[in-house]
Amino acid sequence: MIETGISGGVQHIRLNRPEKKNALTGDMYTAFAEALERGNAEGSGVRVHLVTGVPGAFTAGNDIGDFLAFASRGSMTDAPVARFLRALVACERPIVAAVDGLAIGVGTTMLLHCDMVLASPRSVFRTPFIDLGLVPEAGSSLLAPALMGHARAFELLCLGEAFDAEAACRAGLVNRIVAEEELEASAEAIAHKIAAKPQEALAISRRLLRGDRAALETRVEEEIAAFAARLVSPEASAAFKAFMERARPSG
Ligand code: COA
Repeated sequence: MIETGISGGVQHIRLNRPEKKNALTGDMYTAFAEALERGNAEGSGVRVHLVTGVPGAFTAGNDIGDFLAFASRGSMTDAPVARFLRALVACERPIVAAVDGLAIGVGTTMLLHCDMVLASPRSVFRTPFIDLGLVPEAGSSLLAPALMGHARAFELLCLGEAFDAEAACRAGLVNRIVAEEELEASAEAIAHKIAAKPQEALAISRRLLRGDRAALETRVEEEIAAFAARLVSPEASAAFKAFMERARPSG
């Protein structure tokens, strides 16, 4: 469901659960987090991460069945998704993402942690947090307004409006729009170009561009706490049930 491989300093992380539009499960978050953490280690051979999905789906976001499971457990602090979000913030290597199709929920918010994002023209970026009775996560409540201004961040994160590839590009979420047939090859070429740069200079520069992580780390934890509280709310329960019933109509 998550495939990883390292070649020429590029760690390719592929989200691969096409039958569920790449909805992310706990096991997938754990594997994704491990891949990012591995990249930070000295001698890992990882200089850049390249994140891709499957044709038509980068990811449909968190698996809604897993949301229901969390809701019954009541805690998120040690959940695989929390580990993944912390790994994104702590990631020391540049991340290149290639988005083709659906980028829902964390599929959009994780892009705020990427350094280069390529998207196909048919890509759709949408964060239906409020409609699900939830709140924005992955530091998006801090990073999105800083990137695109409050008004557009509100439209994306609170109104839940879908951004197409052009709108995402204008908002600064996406660097380039590339035809789907060329998307992965273009993203790979960029990843290898980054991997070939002087690595110390690159690491220092990326750290300077990203700035002090403390505020982001604090915000991610605040969001995790708010998200966990919302998961057990009547608003969220009703939204999850509506989705599950829609997804699995009873005989
Ligand atoms: N969690 C769990 N299952 C999901 C899922 C998710 N986030 N997204 C898609 N799936 C499943 C569907 O239930 C369906 O499963 P089934 O074939 O067993 O019924 C399968 O993936 C295909 O999805 P489907 O809805 O038939 O495809 P579509 O092209 O009509 O719609 C979406 C795709 C992504 C628009 C729609 O599935 C959707 O709205 N998903 C929920 C997205 C979401 O709210 N994510 C959480 C964000 S915080």
